Amino acid sequence: MGDLHRRSGAVAESSSRLTRRPLAAVAVLVIALNACGEPPATLGDPALDAGRETYGRVCSTCHGPSGEGVSGPALTDVVETFPECEDHQLWVTLGSMEWENQFGPNYGANDKEITAIMPSFKNVLSEAEIAEVASFERFQFGGLSAAEAVAGCGAD
Ligand code: HEC
Repeated sequence: MGDLHRRSGAVAESSSRLTRRPLAAVAVLVIALNACGEPPATLGDPALDAGRETYGRVCSTCHGPSGEGVSGPALTDVVETFPECEDHQLWVTLGSMEWENQFGPNYGANDKEITAIMPSFKNVLSEAEIAEVASFERFQFGGLSAAEAVAGCGAD
């Protein structure tokens, strides 16, 4: 009888130890998820933050999360291609096919040849969103200062 009591006590103790450990694991997981769920640090301008969100949602599949290029080209020389943000915005609005219809088979100050399809974002993004995403690309990948990028695209 005494033995039985001791044994069931041991079972109760070990099962409470078992429940403590998963709880600790859950606590660690919750902390980790909280860290992931935090919004990324601001880029210092609401237009750039909004542009980053749009870029991640609709442009990064082709241009890469860091603008390194995937099916679309890298965006590191985007400011050389489009010294004026107005042209950058027009390109994004029209896409490569409508650009070619209107201006011929080349684009940009460096006369790049159109060889692949960039979709038109005319019916996907508002003018303000296009200005913001262009500012973000010029700041993040093109190396312009935040102020230059935002003012140049009229996103301020
Ligand atoms: C389906 C793939 C695809 C998506 C999505 C896409 N692009 Fe492109 N983009 C391209 C391709 C392809 C080119 C080059 C066209 C060519 O060479 O014929 C290009 C070229 C560009 C260029 C010119 C860069 C340079 O220096 O030559 C810019 C700027 C640009 N895209 C911005 C954007 C933005 C902003 C978005 C999101 C709103 C976006 N793109 C979404 C495929 C894409």
